[in-house]
Amino acid sequence: MSQTFAPREEFRAQAVAREQLYRDAQADRLGFWAQQARELLTWEREFTEILNWENAPVASWFGDGQLNACYNAVDRHVAAGNGDRIALYFEAEDGTSEEYSYARMQTEVSQIANTLASLGVRTGDRVAIYLPMGPIAVQTMLACARIGATHSVVFGGFSAEALHSRITDAGARVVVTSDGQFRNGKALPLKRAVDEALAHGDTPVDHVLVYQRTGMEVQWDEERDVWWHDVVPQASTSHTPAFVPAEHPLFILYTSGTTGKPKGVVHTTGGYLTQAAFTHKNVFDLHPESDVYWCTADVGWITGHSYVTYGPMVNGATQVIYEGTPSTPHKGRWWEIIEKYGVTIFYTAPTAIRTCMKWGEEIPAKYDLSSLRVLGSVGEPINPEAWLWFHRVIGAERCPIVDTWWQTETGAILISPLPGITATKPGSAQRALPGVSLAIYDNLGDEITNEDPGLLVITEPWPSMLRGIWGDSNRFKETYWSRFPGQYFAGDGAKYDEDGDIWLLGRVDDVMNVSGHRLSTAEIESVLVEHDDVAEAAVVGAKDDTTGQAVVAFVILREGADGDRDALVDELREMVRHDIGPIAKPRDILIVPELPKTRSGKIMRRLLRDLAEHRDIGDVTTLADSSVMELIKGIDAR
Ligand code: WT7
Repeated sequence: MSQTFAPREEFRAQAVAREQLYRDAQADRLGFWAQQARELLTWEREFTEILNWENAPVASWFGDGQLNACYNAVDRHVAAGNGDRIALYFEAEDGTSEEYSYARMQTEVSQIANTLASLGVRTGDRVAIYLPMGPIAVQTMLACARIGATHSVVFGGFSAEALHSRITDAGARVVVTSDGQFRNGKALPLKRAVDEALAHGDTPVDHVLVYQRTGMEVQWDEERDVWWHDVVPQASTSHTPAFVPAEHPLFILYTSGTTGKPKGVVHTTGGYLTQAAFTHKNVFDLHPESDVYWCTADVGWITGHSYVTYGPMVNGATQVIYEGTPSTPHKGRWWEIIEKYGVTIFYTAPTAIRTCMKWGEEIPAKYDLSSLRVLGSVGEPINPEAWLWFHRVIGAERCPIVDTWWQTETGAILISPLPGITATKPGSAQRALPGVSLAIYDNLGDEITNEDPGLLVITEPWPSMLRGIWGDSNRFKETYWSRFPGQYFAGDGAKYDEDGDIWLLGRVDDVMNVSGHRLSTAEIESVLVEHDDVAEAAVVGAKDDTTGQAVVAFVILREGADGDRDALVDELREMVRHDIGPIAKPRDILIVPELPKTRSGKIMRRLLRDLAEHRDIGDVTTLADSSVMELIKGIDAR
């Protein structure tokens, strides 16, 4: 039996209403979602149709309704008399801070929208956003939504090459960036990567709008580049939002898949906002008039889209956003921020919790964390040890922890306990949320109801589901809908325990999860084999105490490649950093004489993972040449 933690008294009032959500959704799933869409959003034109699944697997939710995402996230709160409520407390890395009320957001987002329009951006165009975490990034996303332009945020840690492929794939007309960003007390360039990306010459980009964050020197193209401070503050503060159909694409967000090329996951407006707002309100027990919410994710990831920009703002929440790293200038920075703003709801990732555990509990103990009420975790399965530490040291055994399972593709949380209802259980994400239908299947597609491990499948369409992969409908169908025809294959292993709670077991495909970030083995392999000295490469995700998984690469050299091996390994790491970004840099690179392959020539990653995790090698009988493993075993990682 796993240990459980009973729901606490103070959530009882909400618990009754939340129990009802499960029953309502059970009784009439589509009616339940329609009711949420009406209650949580303001529609310019009411919808009459709830779900249209005739074009499966492309869903249409609330298809004949019209609305604007930015209006829902900003204007209507001002109209309701909440203009003075703080939307964002911005904490910069250097300790300076600034407050943004909903009224201020409306004014400034309108100015950005007018600026983008003057640069030629129209409803339906794509805009790439390559900005540091901060209010400017949130406002720029909302400004795009305001004019009905589809944004594609590229995380500031991605390289010029990665940025280039995302800009061209999405067909962005404008890029919004900054001169640089602060990270660990240093100013790092961002615009330079945009220049490098656009130097390829094959992008549809007409203009680059550049916000000055660090004051560092930048190159300038008079025709193309526009300083933010020359145009935005001068722009009109009034702008009428463009009301768009519910299925209008709100954003594209690229994520790694099993092949080399990242997938542009497409989310639309009405269904996405409904489920982002619903989950944000109920999973975190949000009371917008009194809570101070903080999600530590960057807007470059889906968590920053759904649980910084859209969910909280649609709900009229007050939130903290922080620019920097948890250890700048000291390792108590996060806890200091919680104390400073009286944060009540705190949402972060297991990798960060494990890092803080390593630093020692005497650090958070120095701060007053008594404002906290609810804690959340996302990105990977949280190991019970980290869960218990989070619960005891940060939550003082008082705050329920919601372990939230979801994906870039699902748009919103699908599996999680609800505070006040679910007796929480360290390590388990527990239950499907109201309105979500899922199952665990075996390889043949038969449903598993006992405690055997299987594959997680979402059996019915949900409002915030992805509507496709930008420009590649075949890949959309193949990746998610072909394994079990008509049902969504998530790519995660899962099992039930004896209480019927769900435990996530990690990816079952060639996708790695490093610090809660998704990386593709194939994408890194294709960078490595570009090196003249490399004949073949295989990448695996090996267990890592802090980052969950770490990238480990095995490479075979070409005949005659007999240069300095340490220098080669450095070059390979640098290539990965240059082509993808620092997050993808292998922890270990092993130069090996052979790779273990089956008789049909498939690399046996399972064996490489055994090696990388220093485990005994499992069954090698299917190898074409079983002596290969002996050859590789003695080689040290670099
Ligand atoms: C993959 C999705 C969703 C935002 C962050 C990552 C893993 C995510 C959990 C969790 C177990 C989790 C899954 C999933 N994952 N949250 N609470 N428990 N696994 O989004 O980059 O799209 O990655 O992250 O493997 O498939 P993403």
